[in-house]
Amino acid sequence: MSHTLLAPSVLAADFANLQRDIEMINNSDADWFHLDVMDGLFVPNISYGMPVIKSIAKHAKKPLDVHLMIVDPDRYIKDFADLGANILSVHYEACNHLHRTLQAIKNEGMQAGVAINPHTNVILLEDVINDIDLVCLMSVNPGFGGQSFIEHTYKKVEQLKKIIKANGAQTKIEVDGGVTDKNARQLVDAGADVLVAGSYVFGASNPPKIITDLKNILK
Ligand code: DX5
Ligand code: ZN
Repeated sequence: MSHTLLAPSVLAADFANLQRDIEMINNSDADWFHLDVMDGLFVPNISYGMPVIKSIAKHAKKPLDVHLMIVDPDRYIKDFADLGANILSVHYEACNHLHRTLQAIKNEGMQAGVAINPHTNVILLEDVINDIDLVCLMSVNPGFGGQSFIEHTYKKVEQLKKIIKANGAQTKIEVDGGVTDKNARQLVDAGADVLVAGSYVFGASNPPKIITDLKNILK
């Protein structure tokens, strides 16, 4: 039995009913809140920032998994720690000194995550794998919810798992983008530890049931 975690992406929530949707996740079988921060520069979209996360943190009773899709994320590490982020992921492609950035995240008491775009080879993380708590493998091009899952991701999960094992690291593998009941099982079998699901959860007529069903697939 696996212990795969499920992190609904709040990007797909109804922002006019945010507290309702946060409580739904609190009361569901989901494990984390996945929070997508986009700056309109690293990705071609702007999502939400500090004030919204501050409000979410007030109500959220599960860990906050913050995914920064912003250039030069070092500027805001302390701010996200102060807001209550538990896991902070920066993009490999947005950091000039990734090793330093990872230490800065840990020094603020958070778990350090690295997200990589679909075109980025997992091998590029090998030299820092022991410093990474979570790798967020993007299974769509970051910037938007509701896109189709890129099939090549299964292979990347397997390759990354091998690197983690070979280095005796404890790094978790998260898969983010286009996750549904159609690919969840295969992702777990490939080695995924955390699945993010946005539109599949919030687009459903009964989100808590979809979360329970998805968690059952992950068992
Ligand atoms: C994409 C975001 C994802 C997104 C997932 O840039 O990082 O977290 O919210 O949404 P779905 O599950 O709809 O692809
Ligand atoms: Zn994300």
